[in-house]
Amino acid sequence: MMIFSGNSNQKLAEKIARILNLPLNVPEKFIFPDGEERIRILGKVVGEDVFLVAPLTPPVNEYIIETSFIVDGLKRSGASKVHLISPYLGYQRQDHIFRDGEAVSLEAVIKMLEAVGVDAIMAFDFHSIKIPEMFRIPVTHLSAMPLFAKTIFDLHFSKENTVLVSPDMGGIRRIKQFSKLLRDIPYATILKERDLATGSVFATSLELPNGLKELEGRDVIILDDMISGGGTMVKAVELLKANNAGKAYVFVTHAVFSQNAPVLLQESPIEKVFITDSVLVTKDKQFPKLEVLTISNIIAEEIKAP
Ligand code: R5P
Repeated sequence: MMIFSGNSNQKLAEKIARILNLPLNVPEKFIFPDGEERIRILGKVVGEDVFLVAPLTPPVNEYIIETSFIVDGLKRSGASKVHLISPYLGYQRQDHIFRDGEAVSLEAVIKMLEAVGVDAIMAFDFHSIKIPEMFRIPVTHLSAMPLFAKTIFDLHFSKENTVLVSPDMGGIRRIKQFSKLLRDIPYATILKERDLATGSVFATSLELPNGLKELEGRDVIILDDMISGGGTMVKAVELLKANNAGKAYVFVTHAVFSQNAPVLLQESPIEKVFITDSVLVTKDKQFPKLEVLTISNIIAEEIKAP
């Protein structure tokens, strides 16, 4: 077994390799003046089961190409299997056609990965539960929810004074599962609308748990799969505060943090933003309210599993 890393999240790959007590292999990458890149696998991989850590994070188009070239290089060099560990898989939100004429970008990306020779994929908290069905190769779909639940237990939130919140209807299944993990803490759902042309988000109304007319000062824990521009989360918190929420905490698996999301989150009435290291958050995107939980142990356990 060998562990390889692309360039999108080498820190995560290092943690996984350290836990498994294996060396980390990084292919050589050379960028030509015209922007084309050359990938070269160093060392022998013949007959090896290779685990390639390569989340498809921004700049996503660049990392799709890089990952495809690494997989191609590994297969040509004789690797017996390539397991792609891509805890965050870009393009997930375009998993179907929203308006006539649109591409199903995620399906195109999946086809590319399968065509170059990815044999299996491991990912965390897909945007929708339908996504695993889009692959022809085996998919290991993991979740950060147990890790979040442990953190919430450690922080001693009380069931009586806490409400879980999904920032949109798309997250309803996720929030129900989370509530089960957290010994049935009640949950609420926000109705969100997004302008498909501009991407602007509007949090229109709040559906409270049975028996509650307003939040009456209860703390809220908002759970989502990802934060990109931050609009969804900030609008959600503003609506919750307008409904008399107490302290607001955010738990999100994928911190994509595009545009000025870190500034929006830091300046919002959120107490703390818990994320995982599925996406590398560079220094310039870190902010005081941010806390990063690692998924490296979960991945290492999964690699070790027979
Ligand atoms: C959408 O359905 C997702 O679950 C997230 O809520 C969304 O992608 C977050 O995007 P943004 O941070 O740009 O509002």
